[in-house]
This record gives sequence, C-alpha cells and structure tokens, in this order.
Amino acid sequence: MRFDCVISGGLCVTASDTFRADIGILDEKIAAIGTHLSGERTIDATGKYVMPGAVDTHTHLEMPFGGTVSKDDFETGTIAAAYGGTTSIVDFCIQGKGQSLQDALDAWRAKAEGKAVLDYGFHIAITDMTGSVLDEMQTMIDAGCPSFKVFMVYDFRVSDTVLMQALIQARDHGGLVCVHAENNDAVTYLINKHLSEGKTDPRYHALSRPPLVEGEATGRACKLAQITGGPLFVVHLTCESALQEVVRARANGASVMAETCPQYLLLSDANYDEPDFGGAKYVMSPPLRPRENQEPLWKGLASNDLVSVATDHCPFDFNGQKDMGRDNFAKIPNGAPGIEPRLALMHEFGVNAGRFDINRLVAVCATNPAKAFGMYPQKGALAIGADADIVVFDPELKVTLSTATLHENVDYTPYEGVEVTGFPVATLSRGEVVCMNGRLEAKPGRGRFIKRGKPRFV
Ligand code: URP
Ligand code: ZN
Ligand code: ZN
Repeated sequence: MRFDCVISGGLCVTASDTFRADIGILDEKIAAIGTHLSGERTIDATGKYVMPGAVDTHTHLEMPFGGTVSKDDFETGTIAAAYGGTTSIVDFCIQGKGQSLQDALDAWRAKAEGKAVLDYGFHIAITDMTGSVLDEMQTMIDAGCPSFKVFMVYDFRVSDTVLMQALIQARDHGGLVCVHAENNDAVTYLINKHLSEGKTDPRYHALSRPPLVEGEATGRACKLAQITGGPLFVVHLTCESALQEVVRARANGASVMAETCPQYLLLSDANYDEPDFGGAKYVMSPPLRPRENQEPLWKGLASNDLVSVATDHCPFDFNGQKDMGRDNFAKIPNGAPGIEPRLALMHEFGVNAGRFDINRLVAVCATNPAKAFGMYPQKGALAIGADADIVVFDPELKVTLSTATLHENVDYTPYEGVEVTGFPVATLSRGEVVCMNGRLEAKPGRGRFIKRGKPRFV
C-alpha cells in the first residue's frame, strides 16, 4: 500500500510504550504502524521521537478581559501552538451577560472559523446561570462541547448553589465542570486592603490571592463534587494546599481531576519583584507561588494526582495592555503567554531533569487531556484509526526561548533566555504538515471544530 505520507525511522512514544516503527498516513488518519512503509511524502524521523500531537485544553484566544482583548487570535495562536508541537486546543467560549450558551458558542466558532490552522474545541464558561442556561448545558454536550467552566471569583463568579447545579447537570448528561477556584470574599478583602494602604505594585496582586485562598475554594469545590457526585476538573492548580484537597477528594472516590501549567512549575512569586513594573508580565490568576510549591506539583504530575499540563495561554502585551494597571495592580489584565513552549519546557524540566519519563510527558501533554475532555482516541493517540496528529520531536535540538524566535503574537515571553534541549521539528495535523523545520506549510482556516464526546476519568 502507498500512503499519503510516511514518517520513517523514528522512535514512537505513546503514553505507555516506546518502539521503533514507521507511521503510514492515509486520508488524514494513521493507517499503519510498521516497517518499510512507503508514501507520496516521507519525513525522515531518524534520531527523533514520534509522538501524538500535544493537546492544550486551556487557551484564551481573542478573549475580552478587563477592557482589552488577549493578543493572539485563532490564526496566530494556533500557528504558535503548532510550532510548539500542539495539534489540538480547547479554548474557552465565554457566555456574555444574558446570552444563551448557543449564541456564545456561535460567536466563538465564528472567531475560529477561517483562521485556525489546528483543530479546536470549546469549553463553555457559564457566567450567567438561569434555568434555561442550565437546560442548555445538555444541548452543548450534544453539540460536542461537554465541558463547562465556572469561576468562584471575579464579577462573573457563580454561587456554590450554581456550581452544584452545574455538577448535577454534568453528572446526569455526560459532562464535566471545570472550576477556577479562588475565594472571592478573601480576594476582594485583600485587594481593597492593599489598595487602601497605597500598595499598588504588581507584587500585591499575588499578596491579594495567597495560596490558602485557592486551597479553600478548591477544597469547597471538591466537597461539592463529592456531595453531588458530579465530575469536576480543577483548572490551573498552582499550590500544595490546593493539591492536597484534590488528593483527598480522589482518595475518597470523588470524580475530581486537576491540571497545572508550566508557569506554576517553573516561575515563582519572586518574578513579581522584577523592576520597572516588570512584575506585571506575571499577573495571572491564580498568581505565581513561593518556590516551595513547585516540587509538590512536579511530584503530583509524576503520580497522576495531577493529570495534565495545559498552558492557560492568555497573552497581553506588556506595552499597551499590561500597563493599564501601572497605578493599580487590580487593573492589570490577568494572563500570560505560553502556548508555544509547553512541550519543550515539560521535556526539559520534566524528562531531562529526571522528574518523569518520556511516556509520562506524552500522557500529561497529550493523552490524558484528550481523554479527560472527550477527544480520545481521535486525538492524543498514536494508534491506527486516530487522526494523524503527530509531532516529530528532536531530543538533541538546543533552543534558547525568546520573543524574537517564538511565534506568539505578544511582546514578551515569561521564558526569555531559557535554554532547552529538545524541540519539535515537524507538526502534522490530520496528516498535513502544518510546520516543519521552522517553516509554516499549512494555510489558516484548515483547522476544524472538534465535536467532543464523553469526558473520561483519568
Ligand atoms: O489569569 C488568568 N489565568 N487569565 C485567564 C483567565 C482564567 O482565569 O483562566
Ligand atoms: Zn481561570
Ligand atoms: Zn484560563
């Protein structure tokens, strides 16, 4: 048989196995895993890893926040993601006040259509729960968006009652509730206290949202998941106190999963002390933590207390956006870039540093998020019949991360000057080379909406 494309001679790495084989691609799918395969196009992967394309289940492209809009849109954001070895994203579609979930989804699909170079799905962020919105959750699940996000903080937060209602709907109809867990009253109290004392620097963003604020809300959400029997996914978990709550809930048999992000594993609250308002680059919620939280998170990833690593990519320029809060940390748009270097950072500081093996890298960056969010085995799998979403990764390639070389459409990276050994050299989406050896081959608009199925407990 002659394939459309063959990736030959690489070391194939899945979440469970490592083996040498050629991959044959036909009609967008992986059609063969074998030896001596031949195709119209051959990609020589000798000396490289061949892995399922990474899956980033936490992005914010073209998202309005605090009077501005995140800088990457679905074109620039998915291009940057592809250069970093990601082949699918799940972005957050935010319901507007009084808006139906269907209208919100239509609006977010319109942003992505004609622009994305990768396949994309949507979580539905519920910000204004009503009886009809609760009913609409099932419609969203049937439409291929089985995951929802609720915020326990911000003006558009939900009450514990609403969180419970969402958990019950998800339980009954095959959905999953993602939660942004911070105690709103404690955060509001601390922000007001700091501002009234004239403490306006970026470091007070972190001091207004200490780890216990997240630990308390995470514990509460986990207990509501236990009380209702509803499935919960804790997003952007940052600290040991929140992790302990997740560990306890899982040990008690609750359907609770959690992710962390590279910034919480690699950066710390010391970054808020960068001079000349530089700390604003790291203003995100929850904030960066004291360094002692990092090793527990790494261990949690290795032990599956944390099931995945996503980016929470939410880029705002330092000049022109972050500086909206020069006189008041509470006005700095929350979020930081990171959609491109995730796989390389996790390889460098996870695998090369001996914290976990290459199979676990695939598990936390591709297979587990695909399973948890209802995309497996179409995505996140190197298996016959799966979409040919594949990354060819050179474990010897040395790269210095820099805004100058990354493709994210934002004027800084939190990882400026970080050196990694190992970087993607080719990324294929449904068998099409999106980028290879630093060159973009695919056209914007080729990405398709992923109609996701039932989330799985990982
Ligand atoms: O600061 C952050 N994380 N911005 C993005 C929105 C969110 O809460 O995930
Ligand atoms: Zn959040
Ligand atoms: Zn986020």
